[in-house]
Amino acid sequence: MPGPHDTHDLTEADPLSAASLDALVADALAAFAAASGVAALKEARLAHAGERSPIALANRAIGRLTPAERKDAGRRIGMARGAINGALAERQAIVEAAELERALSEESVDVTLPVALAPEGAIHPITGLIELMSDVFVAMGWEVAEGPEAEAEWLNFDALNIGADHPARGESDTLFVAPVGSHRVLRTHTSPVQLRSLLDRELPVYVVCPGKVYRADEFDATHVPVFHQIEGLCVDKGITMAHLKGTLDHLARTMFGDVRTRFRPNYFPFTEPSAEMDLECFVCHGASVGNPDAPCRTCRSEGWIEWGGCGIVNPRVLRAAGIDTDVYSGFAFGMGIERTLMFRNNAADMRDMVEGDVRFSRSLKGEAR
Ligand code: DAH
Repeated sequence: MPGPHDTHDLTEADPLSAASLDALVADALAAFAAASGVAALKEARLAHAGERSPIALANRAIGRLTPAERKDAGRRIGMARGAINGALAERQAIVEAAELERALSEESVDVTLPVALAPEGAIHPITGLIELMSDVFVAMGWEVAEGPEAEAEWLNFDALNIGADHPARGESDTLFVAPVGSHRVLRTHTSPVQLRSLLDRELPVYVVCPGKVYRADEFDATHVPVFHQIEGLCVDKGITMAHLKGTLDHLARTMFGDVRTRFRPNYFPFTEPSAEMDLECFVCHGASVGNPDAPCRTCRSEGWIEWGGCGIVNPRVLRAAGIDTDVYSGFAFGMGIERTLMFRNNAADMRDMVEGDVRFSRSLKGEAR
């Protein structure tokens, strides 16, 4: 960029005289000083220190001098160039530092400013676990079946061989749907879907039935009035307890890794024989049994924790669905999803599972694939 000092006509004056060179240097220094940014300084550099700058032209004029004159002129040119280049480097450093400073302050982020939070959601761990458990069975060729949450009393109880005098039927446990004469209840377990599946499908039947169940229960760390179960039912020719044990062992290993299991005799009206499926305690692995010095709160020093109920389907249930029990037999099982979630994650309080705080869901992301 030509400045006000760029008016010397080097063709007329002696370009190599001390005065001319002083003027060149003064011009260059003034131009550098006036350049306020990196781009402006680049232009000033091309004009005053570039190949076609006055100082470069002066340098070329040396060739026209006699050898005797050259020495002096060369020294003056050298000094002039030194002055120009030194001033340029100095200015360059200043201008670059200023530009950096400006960028840092203009582009800095004010971390105290409020930000627009668009919170990321998460699959609820119960939903994720239902899918995970169902997939174990889908992978073996089973189907997923569903039934209504407001269920016929007959399917929830009678058809499952739960008589009118069974304690679970009393008002203390069961939530009845008004009016009383509707004979509908909020299903107390997923077992009525067993009946529905048998009535709806051709044999053989292999289904898992996950879903919500309702009981007039307390709301505390280990009870919630609405929770989830997954039911399994297989009806085929020649089904035995061994098939049941193998299937549940496979499920247990998928859910908990290399865990020991056991069947403990129990009673359910809809299976005969019936069992509870227990898992070896994850916490003490049985070390607390008979060892009052090292009690275990998780298994109450029993070494095992209860996971779910199971058994060979009671022929009365099969007959309620019109199945020939001389030809077909089956096994069934049912377990709580919340309990499974607690065991898998050491989650101690069931209330966290119903409160809907997304932080809980995010902390158990492993349950959702
Ligand atoms: N329905 C039972 C409950 O809610 C669980 C259960 C036990 C389901 C045994 C079954 C079974 O299918 O065979 O406690």
